[in-house]
Amino acid sequence: MPGEGGRALVDKLAKLTGWPVADVESKTFPDGEEYVRVQTPLRGESVVVVETGFPPGRLWRLLLLLQAARENGVADARAVVPYMPYARQDRRFLEGEPVSARVAADAIGLYANECLTVELHKDAVKDLFRVPCRNLEAVGPFAAEFGARGVEVVLAPDAGARARAAAVARRMGAAVDHLEKKRISSELVEMKPKTLDVQGKSVAILDDIISTGVTMATAVEQLTNQGASRVLCAGVHGLFIGDAVKRLRDAGAHEVLVTDTIPSVHSRVSVAEIVGRALMAPARARLA
Ligand code: R5P
Repeated sequence: MPGEGGRALVDKLAKLTGWPVADVESKTFPDGEEYVRVQTPLRGESVVVVETGFPPGRLWRLLLLLQAARENGVADARAVVPYMPYARQDRRFLEGEPVSARVAADAIGLYANECLTVELHKDAVKDLFRVPCRNLEAVGPFAAEFGARGVEVVLAPDAGARARAAAVARRMGAAVDHLEKKRISSELVEMKPKTLDVQGKSVAILDDIISTGVTMATAVEQLTNQGASRVLCAGVHGLFIGDAVKRLRDAGAHEVLVTDTIPSVHSRVSVAEIVGRALMAPARARLA
């Protein structure tokens, strides 16, 4: 069952699994409230609701679709949330803050028996769910795309993103490194200059999220100054706030590449296969 932000992925998943797609009517009221209506009878069916979490209002559409499925008497409902919103606030960093990721996880778990998501900002977010949550990795699709482009070095923009970059580099036999990042504000990032072995090399910077593009642009500048011959900016989730893409191009990026967890013209890496495979291998079977 597709939400607006899940339509393209649903079509790919339908092809992979052979499962039918339910008809859904949806609209946004002038005041911003969402409306959905499931037009396919679902009584007794196992359904999968696919809706991404960006813009964050899409979370409402996901919840409405899940609740509509329950109203329609489904046997069980699974949620596929390719980009999980509110995952950055996975704990109370300061007194008085909520654990926003738990609020989102609780809301989804009210109506879904299971949640599948892709590359959570922090893996620990999956433990905040009261229903099983699987956090799928997009290592294979990135390794294939980077390999096809002759990438020689995979660079993480900070230490936290290194494990993902290392997994992709290992899969394709490339080198890996990371930069030291310090975020000053949402619009300002400082990176410690670090001598990298990138002279004349084709480099891919890989992060989980490209939001304003400030992190990536700062990394691109470092690589360009150190003589990289080609810089590819890759992210799992491309939010592209404001003029993020222009910022990356102005910094010297040769290409911008993200997955289809949030559909855009830069979504040239698909997570359909990893999601499809996971849907066809239920969590219970994986544990056996
Ligand atoms: C932060 O920890 C994330 O992994 C990304 O590095 C961050 O969200 C990117 O944001 P921006 O594109 O605004 O620099």
